[in-house]
Amino acid sequence: MIKIAPSILSADFTRLGEQAKAVEAAGADRLQIDVMDGRFVPNITFGVQAVRCLRPLVRLPLEAHLMVEPPEDFIERFAEAGADTIIIHQEATPHLHRAVQHIHSLGKQAGVALNPSTPAGTLSEMLVQRDLVLVMTVNPGFGGQKFIPETLPKIREIRTRLRERGQKCEVEVDGGINPETARQVAEAGADVLVAGSAIFDSPDGYAAAIRALREAAQGHAAGG
Ligand code: DX5
Repeated sequence: MIKIAPSILSADFTRLGEQAKAVEAAGADRLQIDVMDGRFVPNITFGVQAVRCLRPLVRLPLEAHLMVEPPEDFIERFAEAGADTIIIHQEATPHLHRAVQHIHSLGKQAGVALNPSTPAGTLSEMLVQRDLVLVMTVNPGFGGQKFIPETLPKIREIRTRLRERGQKCEVEVDGGINPETARQVAEAGADVLVAGSAIFDSPDGYAAAIRALREAAQGHAAGG
């Protein structure tokens, strides 16, 4: 089942609440909040307050994608603000195992994100179950970038490892996702697609944009 997660990085910051509600009404499955600290990535965006303000406005699960270092300093605050899933970067902490345990201890889903040049093998020692692996298909920091096709084998490798181990874990992708790349990443094994500009900049409206992504991905996933 393909899930679509609009990324609010591409939304109109003067109307974040309205846009969150609009993508919920348009069929989004979850909302991704791209938290950037200007140090781990070359941009600064939202903080805990964005999650706290959006929480009461939508029923959608909120994913806090922490592109920050050290992520450990922020896990509790995002959990308390209402994030359902907290995604931290493999590259941002030497203590990934402990950080994932901490997220779970707070009753939240834990995601681990890999930048484009980080090999899938770094997850092999992940002795604690994470709920989601996020494969960045652009270098994190900005919306509207071009999809990096070299990430496709990594998506395939991660999906294969999960299947071999019988592990239940979502494979999410983020960056440059549009109907064409949605088909490619679904074929490689992704089941959650994060999209910013393909949704918020769509001339056809949010519902059509979300539908186009889902159909492109499911069409493939169903062997279409
Ligand atoms: C990239 C962000 C992505 C981005 C995706 O640094 O973390 O979530 O907003 O935007 P698009 O879909 O426009 O590439």
